[in-house]
Amino acid sequence: MKVGIIGFGRIGKVHAESLIRYASGIEVKAIADPFISEESKLWAKANGVKEVYSDYEKILADKEIDIVLICCPTDQHFIVSKKAILSGKHVFCEKPVSHSVEEILEIKKLLEKYNVLYQVGFNRRFDKNFATLKEKVASGMIGDLHILKITSRDPAPPPISYVKVSGGMFLDMTIHDFDMVRFVSGEEVEEVFVFGGVMVDEEIGKAGDIDTAIISLKLKSGALAVIDNSREAAYGYDQRVEAFGSKGQIIAKNELENTTVIATKDGILSRTPKYFFLERYMQAYTEEIKQFVESIKSKSCTVCGVDDGLKPVLIGLAAKKSLKENRPVKIAEIEKEYGIKS
Ligand SMILES: NC(=O)c1ccc[n+]([C@@H]2O[C@H](COP(=O)([O-])OP(=O)(O)OC[C@H]3O[C@@H](n4cnc5c(N)ncnc54)[C@H](O)[C@@H]3O)[C@@H](O)[C@H]2O)c1
Repeated sequence: MKVGIIGFGRIGKVHAESLIRYASGIEVKAIADPFISEESKLWAKANGVKEVYSDYEKILADKEIDIVLICCPTDQHFIVSKKAILSGKHVFCEKPVSHSVEEILEIKKLLEKYNVLYQVGFNRRFDKNFATLKEKVASGMIGDLHILKITSRDPAPPPISYVKVSGGMFLDMTIHDFDMVRFVSGEEVEEVFVFGGVMVDEEIGKAGDIDTAIISLKLKSGALAVIDNSREAAYGYDQRVEAFGSKGQIIAKNELENTTVIATKDGILSRTPKYFFLERYMQAYTEEIKQFVESIKSKSCTVCGVDDGLKPVLIGLAAKKSLKENRPVKIAEIEKEYGIKS
């Protein structure tokens, strides 16, 4: 099978590396990026990528290419997804599919007509720690789930230019955590309430966003979840999950830079968490691409499809509304706005 990658920035390169090193029977035939760096061109040459285009339409027109990875900026995911599906390609689309519910619904409709697979890049599902935690929750080991706690803090905020086009913290950053709530619990979210603030950088506030939040969620079973977000944790990328149930608790801790622990008379010191997503989630990025390729080979559904792309956006919009109106918001209220039956 031959692959084309559209957008060759940070994440495009991560997926290309995974395909080349870990997916068997796959050739990365082409890359398209209008602003590709000289370094990336050299990388493509060294790794046997035959074509480097500036226009992604050339990838879509190539009949030999079966699979397209959409790794360009979020505001282009919809149009590229649409064209790729219409060209009969299997699609892996980075998160979020779109900030617009209407656009995601249009993709969903198209996928009902075209016989192609579509996977959304919620990589944390493939992290070995979180995947194990989910498996243990599903096995009933901790009984009925009562509380799910997710801590998700970035080491540093993105540039203000990015904040302005990001769709806001909930749709850009917390969207991963909304997906984790659904993934770990195996349940849908019913209601959301948010307290948020600007504590890291007042420029983020001036750009109309927040950088710190506590998000309470009620799940369909009545179980409760809480997500705490910060755009800046002084000690690195803080990514922890705790599931608490009627028979016990499971915790997934941070992965540290290394496992040394230094003990002196002044105290005990261990290393900081791995710096950011490229360091922390490499295993997960590789696993998600491997599983995507396996779904295509075995002609089975992808493990994270378009509905899994839609639901966290609905939760994100409910969170935005909750913050704005300072009240709990039911997901059904957002669904109703878009004529979605739950
Ligand atoms: N799953 C994750 O953990 C994760 C992590 C980072 C980024 N992302 C997502 O991946 C996407 C890209 O993020 P990034 O951090 O790699 O950004 P980036 O800016 O590093 O890379 C984006 C690339 O797309 C290129 N591009 C712009 N317009 C294009 C077009 N029309 N055709 C082809 N290429 C085009 C840019 O030149 C750039 O090289 C975003 O949607 C982001 O939300 C996901």
